[in-house]
Amino acid sequence: MEENHKPYLHIKNLKVNFKGYDGIRTILDIDEIQIEKGEAYGIIGESGTGKTVLALTIFKLLEMPPGEIVSGEILLDGDDLLKKTDRQMEREVRGKKISMIFQDPMSTLNPVYTVGDQVINVIIKNQGLKKREATEKAVEMLRMVDLPDPERAMEKYPHELSGGQRQRVIIALALSCGAEIIIADEPTRNLDVTIQAGILKLIKKLQKTLNVTVLFIANNPGLISSTCDNAAVLYKGMIVEQGNTKEVLRNPMHPYTFTLLNAIPKSRKDKIILKKPDLINEKIDLETACIYYDKCLKRKDKCKMFRNNIKISEIHQVKCCFAQEKIQEGI
Ligand SMILES: Nc1ncnc2c1ncn2[C@@H]1O[C@H](COP(=O)(O)OP(=O)(O)OP(=O)(O)O)[C@@H](O)[C@H]1O
Ligand code: SF4
Ligand SMILES: [Mg+2]
Repeated sequence: MEENHKPYLHIKNLKVNFKGYDGIRTILDIDEIQIEKGEAYGIIGESGTGKTVLALTIFKLLEMPPGEIVSGEILLDGDDLLKKTDRQMEREVRGKKISMIFQDPMSTLNPVYTVGDQVINVIIKNQGLKKREATEKAVEMLRMVDLPDPERAMEKYPHELSGGQRQRVIIALALSCGAEIIIADEPTRNLDVTIQAGILKLIKKLQKTLNVTVLFIANNPGLISSTCDNAAVLYKGMIVEQGNTKEVLRNPMHPYTFTLLNAIPKSRKDKIILKKPDLINEKIDLETACIYYDKCLKRKDKCKMFRNNIKISEIHQVKCCFAQEKIQEGI
């Protein structure tokens, strides 16, 4: 990669804390994420690991307090979003350059307006079209997201659609704003498997045909594997492994990634395997020890002072001294 190359979305040294009655907790401590224009990038991690906090921080909708952005930069095309005022974010970024798709489509859709009115309004507001042209465009957008019978869907209220259809409307709304980046925060979590597959296929199609950049968040690595070019594994707010999705998922190098991949039941009969070593009465410095130390089966003394990124290859990085040893042994 050339030296002056600037990723489209570049997150650097991002640290987010939450202040509570019990003190200050670090929720995100991300050294770097680089996302290129037009790529689909995945964030995988278990529940409570900071995925939604990351999405809200990029969108600058994190509740502050209790949240606090302690440090970092979120550069969109070289422009630091963290330096923008709320007004600038509203005028230039939210729903303009970046749109968000949440788990629950009803949190975005207005139940008292028809689907058509909602899409038309967004088109009039963002593209400056007259009502008739905007109506035609709205039907076109609903067709683009493969909503069956788009003309009839225009007349419906959100509650008259299925969960999968509502997510398609949200995607149409995001595209109608002209958003260049879509942040999809587990958009398929509440949908059944076949509907999930359809939404993933749609996101992939739009990314390829419209060159939309997608940040796709999931707690199921299976969803990332079919959708994303590159991916990061988030654990307790820290990226423990990242790189080319196939490489990370086929050849995981971090003990947490192994556990996460193992935890996908292959059939209903399979048990979820989450091994947890006994807690030992030893003192560790939470600021310097590997973030996975207390759960790791491979931990050694040196892991108490280990937070380095190890480059396995040009397309694969991992934060683990065990991986470092593997490299030294020639893997
Ligand atoms: N408003 C808040 N006040 C205090 N703590 C919060 C707040 N929002 C989130 N947190 C904490 O931040 C951590 C990360 O939460 P987050 O919602 O980002 O997890 P997540 O990875 O999106 O989980 P899930 O997969 O369940 O959606 C959690 O420990 C959560 O308790
Ligand atoms: S650095 Fe050590 S404790 Fe952390 S994941 Fe690797 S082996 Fe386990
Ligand atoms: Mg979440």
